[in-house]
Formats: sequence, C-alpha cells, structure tokens
Amino acid sequence: MVYLTRRERFNAAHKLWVDDWDDEKNFAVFGKCANVNWHGHNYELFVTVKGTPDPMTGFVMDAKKLSKLIKKLVLDELDHRNLNLDVDFIPKKTQPTTENLVLSIWNRLEPHIEGCQLHCIKLYETENIFAEYYGE
Ligand code: NI
Repeated sequence: MVYLTRRERFNAAHKLWVDDWDDEKNFAVFGKCANVNWHGHNYELFVTVKGTPDPMTGFVMDAKKLSKLIKKLVLDELDHRNLNLDVDFIPKKTQPTTENLVLSIWNRLEPHIEGCQLHCIKLYETENIFAEYYGE
C-alpha cells in the first residue's frame, strides 16, 4: 500500500460561540476564536489517498486530478469564506473547529475518490494545531 498526499492552502473566517453560554464562558472556552466580529486563519490542508501504483503510470492517483478535485469540491467553497455562514457542506449548527472541518472535508471528498481510497484528511489551523481524520 502506497500513500500519496496533496497539500493545499486556503484562508477563511470563523467564530466559535455557543449562544446558550454568556460572554464570559464563551471567551473562557474559545479564547480568541470567540472574537465577536470574526477572525481568520491560514489553513493548510493535507489530503492523503492510498492504493497500489498503477503498473503503467506508477500513480496511486493522478496528483493533478486530486488537486483539481480538492479545488473544485473544497477550496472553491472554503477559500475566503465565512465557515459559520457561507459553506453549504459544513452543518450549520456545528462549531467550525478544525476537528469538525476534517469531518466535513472527508464527507465532501470521499465519494469522489476513484481508483484508490481516501486515507486521511489533515488540517492545520495554525502551525501548532492540527486535526486528522481517517474515516473511523
Ligand atoms: Ni479561530
């Protein structure tokens, strides 16, 4: 089994907030991500597929095709958007945390991967914080 990873980047705004909590509790739990007038992150996304290299091409998957798929299905909808409000494939009542974003991105991409399998969605929100999802 060989693993192939494509890296992409996007920028997006969000706010983490629970309406049922008062301001003090929201700021205590979510910190700067609770900023009332939104804030942005420079996200770094790693999409890994797995499979056996094709005997003719040597590809697990054509990396250009994977990039186009990620661009069309994910980046075109997330980049320069508000993750709380603008993105149809992010469930409206979930917090747009890095953890929830990897689930949404997996569900968005997985049905479109052909000839190999999606292995991992890894998303960096900052250089020190990232989440991974392996479909389980
Ligand atoms: Ni944030």
